[in-house]
Amino acid sequence: MTDQIQQAVSNHILTLTINRPKALNALNTAIMDRLQILFVDKEIDVTSLKGVIITGSGEKAFIAGADIKEFTGLDASIASTLSRKGHQIFRAIECFPIPVIAAINGFALGGGCELAMACHLRIASDTARFGLPEVSLGLIPGYAGTQRLPTLVGKGRALEMILSGKMIDARTALSFGLVNKVVPQDDLLVKATEWVMEISGNGPLAIQQAIQAIDAAYDQQIDGPEFEMEAFGHLTNTQDFKEGVTAFVEKRKPSFEGK
Ligand code: CAA
Repeated sequence: MTDQIQQAVSNHILTLTINRPKALNALNTAIMDRLQILFVDKEIDVTSLKGVIITGSGEKAFIAGADIKEFTGLDASIASTLSRKGHQIFRAIECFPIPVIAAINGFALGGGCELAMACHLRIASDTARFGLPEVSLGLIPGYAGTQRLPTLVGKGRALEMILSGKMIDARTALSFGLVNKVVPQDDLLVKATEWVMEISGNGPLAIQQAIQAIDAAYDQQIDGPEFEMEAFGHLTNTQDFKEGVTAFVEKRKPSFEGK
């Protein structure tokens, strides 16, 4: 069987392509298990990487959701366990120490939209469509869609999208704040790559701390302002900080080493 998640590294960027195009890249158990190994068990070695891009195979779908064909025979206990596993994997993506960008090349529905929302940034092709249609199956989103969508689009729009189950197009997703950028389909991976390269010109330790500090603003278990104040202080001890300030004074580009 071909890999259901293809991995390729170029320019120190890892691209993960969800590869089940005939099933519109629906997230089956094998794909979720692999994502767990990559992000929760930390198989991805971040030390040599600038970022991760997640995309879907083919031109039609990013990911059309969890694999509905695996839902027959679900009971409350199995379904809760499935949901917990999804939460754990997507939380690991959200907390990943290097930028993770969703390059959304088509349908991003249900678990696919939820995976995109767990990524730090989202770039969509102009053909992409978004939705959380779980209520049409008599379910609710199970991979943290009810939790992340309101933080991105606001409670009113989250209710509108989840209660209707309807899809929105890429321009609407941009106007809602669900995606950061929309580009022509053919340019999607090039633009996603350029974005990671642009971000990676900044201090890697600062990027890592910024991801955590912004996350802390939404995590009720963490004192967000306290985290930011501590991280701000801690970063001044790094060589990257000294290099950044020296480069500014010397009117040259900084060369960061992540130390
Ligand atoms: N799971 C399993 N198979 C899927 C799938 C999914 N989520 N989405 C599409 N497929 C399969 C179809 O069954 C079909 O396979 P067969 O040819 O073997 O029947 C193939 O992909 C192509 O799909 P369609 O023929 O339906 O393509 P279309 O262009 O007519 O429609 C679509 C496209 C509107 C995206 C439609 O496929 C669709 O509505 N898919 C389901 C979307 C959905 O409900 N997602 C939410 C899943 S539940 C979830 O994600 C829960 C959670 O929060 C974790």
